[in-house]
Amino acid sequence: MTTPPLPATDDDARAALADLAERIARADRQYHDADAPELSDAEYDALVRQNRAIEAAFPQLVRPDSPSLRVGTVPTGHLAKVAHARPMLSLNNGFSDDDIVEFVTSVRRFLRLSDDAVVALTAEPKIDGLSCSLRYEDRRLVRALTRGDGTIGEDVTANVAHVADVPQELPASAPDVFEVRGEIYMAKADFAALNARLLADAVDPAKARQFANPRNAAAGSLRQKDAAVTATRPLRFLAHGWGETSGLPSDTQAGVVAALRDWGFPIAEAFRRCDSVDEALAVYRAIEAARADLPFDIDGVVYKLDRLDWQERLGFVGRAPRWAIAHKFPAERAQTTLREIDIQVGRTGALTPVARLEPVTVGGVVVTNATLHNADEIERLGVRPGDRVVVQRAGDVIPQIVDNLTRDVVRDAWAFPTACPECGSLAERGEGEVVVRCTGGLVCPAQRVERLIHFVSRHAFDIAGLGLVRVEEFFRDGLIASPADIFRLHAHRDVLIARERMSELVVGKLLDAIDARRDIALDRFLFALGIRHVGEVTARDLARRHGSVRGLAAMIRHGLRVRRATVAVLGESERKFVLRRGRALVAAIETPGIGPEVADALLAFFAEQHNRDVVADLLREVRPLDVVHKAVASELTGQTVVFTGKLETLSRDEAKAQADALGARVAGSVSKKTDLVVVGSDAGSKRAKAEELGIRVVDEAGWAAIVAASRATGS
Ligand code: IVH
Repeated sequence: MTTPPLPATDDDARAALADLAERIARADRQYHDADAPELSDAEYDALVRQNRAIEAAFPQLVRPDSPSLRVGTVPTGHLAKVAHARPMLSLNNGFSDDDIVEFVTSVRRFLRLSDDAVVALTAEPKIDGLSCSLRYEDRRLVRALTRGDGTIGEDVTANVAHVADVPQELPASAPDVFEVRGEIYMAKADFAALNARLLADAVDPAKARQFANPRNAAAGSLRQKDAAVTATRPLRFLAHGWGETSGLPSDTQAGVVAALRDWGFPIAEAFRRCDSVDEALAVYRAIEAARADLPFDIDGVVYKLDRLDWQERLGFVGRAPRWAIAHKFPAERAQTTLREIDIQVGRTGALTPVARLEPVTVGGVVVTNATLHNADEIERLGVRPGDRVVVQRAGDVIPQIVDNLTRDVVRDAWAFPTACPECGSLAERGEGEVVVRCTGGLVCPAQRVERLIHFVSRHAFDIAGLGLVRVEEFFRDGLIASPADIFRLHAHRDVLIARERMSELVVGKLLDAIDARRDIALDRFLFALGIRHVGEVTARDLARRHGSVRGLAAMIRHGLRVRRATVAVLGESERKFVLRRGRALVAAIETPGIGPEVADALLAFFAEQHNRDVVADLLREVRPLDVVHKAVASELTGQTVVFTGKLETLSRDEAKAQADALGARVAGSVSKKTDLVVVGSDAGSKRAKAEELGIRVVDEAGWAAIVAASRATGS
């Protein structure tokens, strides 16, 4: 399925959007009302994507009945997937008072506030539930979505209709469009009663379904295909924020939260507005002391900047706002016995020791495994099978062993294997590394299968119906050996249908889901390759900077030439050589935020002929999409800006964030490639150089005007 080119003119775009709105609406109606959809999931998906791509390029033409603002249902999985009008983000975490003081300091720095300016914060409990976005249009609840991956959530509108805390209608004073965000949770007492009821109702009590904790119970109860089941589950809702709105009832966080309460939403009783960090930390201590007596589970306190204009200026970095932070409670601990140490082989060949434990309850969850990280950690703890250990669990993090209570008992130390348990190849520890790695590379089945699992995982290709178990089975049975093989599974249709737990319908859906991923976002594609150190954020930075497969390929070719050219010079110390090479590689990659270690890993990956073959093979099957710069109708999109001299009203970070939001790149020095130089006071040589090169120069007020103009015409 090819992606049609973007329309060239406004008129063409307007016509295309109208046509797509109608076709998608018809498909939605058929999917929901009739039992005979005309479109396959993949075709439907392609229309939704095309609509989104045109809207991104022509934001001024987004229709009021746009499918992306409306249902946008993708009929895969058991709940429909719907794009959020505004992404649902996560929070950065702090663990100590110092972290919170530093958070406020960084806010002051970013906004260039004086030390005595009042930075008011709100403080409220961080509820251990499921985030949910409730969309009201004309004051009626029209849709409820789970967080999903933050960009696309699951439609739980029918289920939420049974949550008594959620108003179906808002009073006349509420704006026309308002998305209320908060947590769906189950109270501790209701959770205990639900488990007791499930046990009492079970035919065979030994097989009764039991939820591990209130959070799982809330998730399991909300995400039901049959909303009638949700209706029997005691779910609650607490509001703590908002998404897209057509207007706000206040210019402070506390003001909007008060309005939410007036509109009928439950708000945390402990919610406070604080004028200083000390006050906020006092609220933290009060909430921590009351934790056990609260009716619901919480795992920390969330602080948010009270002034919404400051929130707006601070914006986001990655998936988290700069204007909020979660202050997490210390992790919970318990004692148990270490039964065995197993070794798992990851996709980069890293041998990770895993502790198998006597099951123990830590903070309400039964723990049977814990990570031991690496050989150094095992040595530090002196752990051997049979030892009594202290296990710690914090939030969603994998449990860890933090202490060995029987290290003085005389017994042989546990020996870290010197051969890969999966393929028998030598396992070595690289120079200066803590990790022991299998040297088998792609000979090692564990590494190959782990790479495939990573390839289809949620933030990579995210292929519905192709999870860990199926990948392992297909790999074992020789159906897939490399990523490209996934896209050639069509050829094995009959073999697939004949397999256990498969049917024509299931296979049809799986192959459609695979097809739907042939057009893939460039950053997901890069992330999916499983290159060491190239996580989601790095993949996004690279994709944004280089824009397309061609752009990336050119950068990599150049990088590989630089890598070959940087050889050790006689007499140069190793440290100097590593530094010099690192600098050269970073320059070649030319992507802000990417340092020598990542640059080295990226180029080392492409230096291997085998990896280049795997990628080339994959590119015969899939088409990574060019990055469409989020068109904020900015004159600066794709341009390079240099800031120089002292800025009076902005911190450098804020100026950079503004440039970033306009799709521009910030460089440190003026060259022929520079498009704009922003000069503050005492700008020196850079200004002179810009003038010499005939580059446009503006002062700080000029920059502010550019930013304001793009905001006015932009999204
Ligand atoms: S504010 C942009 N406030 O924690 C900021 N989140 O770790 C969005 N959560 O996904 C979050 N209680 O579901 C906020 N009082 C609270 C919260 C809260 C729980 C959840 C939320 C979010 C997650 C981030």
